[in-house]
Amino acid sequence: MTEKTAPLIAWHGGQVSAAQRRALLDQIPLTLWLTGLSASGKSTLAFALERELIAQGRACYVLDGDNVRHGLNRDLGFSAADRAENIRRIAEVARLMNDAGLIVITAFISPYRNDRAMAREIIGQANVREVYLNTPLAVCEARDPKGLYRQARAGRVAQFTGISSPYEAPERPDLTLDTARHSLEDAVAQLLAVIHAGQERSVGWAAKPNV
Ligand SMILES: Nc1ncnc2c1ncn2[C@@H]1O[C@H](COP(=O)(O)OP(=O)(O)O)[C@@H](O)[C@H]1O
Ligand SMILES: [Mg+2]
Repeated sequence: MTEKTAPLIAWHGGQVSAAQRRALLDQIPLTLWLTGLSASGKSTLAFALERELIAQGRACYVLDGDNVRHGLNRDLGFSAADRAENIRRIAEVARLMNDAGLIVITAFISPYRNDRAMAREIIGQANVREVYLNTPLAVCEARDPKGLYRQARAGRVAQFTGISSPYEAPERPDLTLDTARHSLEDAVAQLLAVIHAGQERSVGWAAKPNV
């Protein structure tokens, strides 16, 4: 926002309250923020969890790193500044989706503590649950579903997290999961438990089938 345009922009509030949206969807919006190395299992878990939540009648949506970089963030690279801007935009989108009443699952490496703190600040601390996928680098590298580690080791991908760019582990995640030690089913069940714990005040939640 430039100084010239700033005075021209004013917040225009809506006429629908958060409580009305909660009542309509019978759920408390949350953002489940998955962080971890490439191939740690973020996308696999996020989409499996989304399928499960939809099957339980919950309105949810996955914001996935690669997918977002196809569109909204196609102009961004992997420098520290671009990663920060990537996370800032994602957080703003997650905030809007939470505001609309949705449960949001994000699947971004999001390697920097400061960027994740910024995201929590934007979305609102109370609405975020941080999940650290601490799958060991060696396991991620052996999986290498997209061949990226191989390319990074060969020096063909610059600033690759875990190889040539740092990953800063969360200090107080709400949940830590090593997908080398937990099956996909087990991991999804643990993520569901985090979401369910955030629904305590949602009257209808416990009454729904399959929960
Ligand atoms: N328990 C598990 N949870 C998640 N992924 C697993 C698990 N076991 C094996 N995998 C495999 O690990 C890979 C994880 O890749 P992906 O989900 O794309 O990771 P990310 O999105 O973190 O880069 C996939 O090939 C997936 O099939
Ligand atoms: Mg992914």
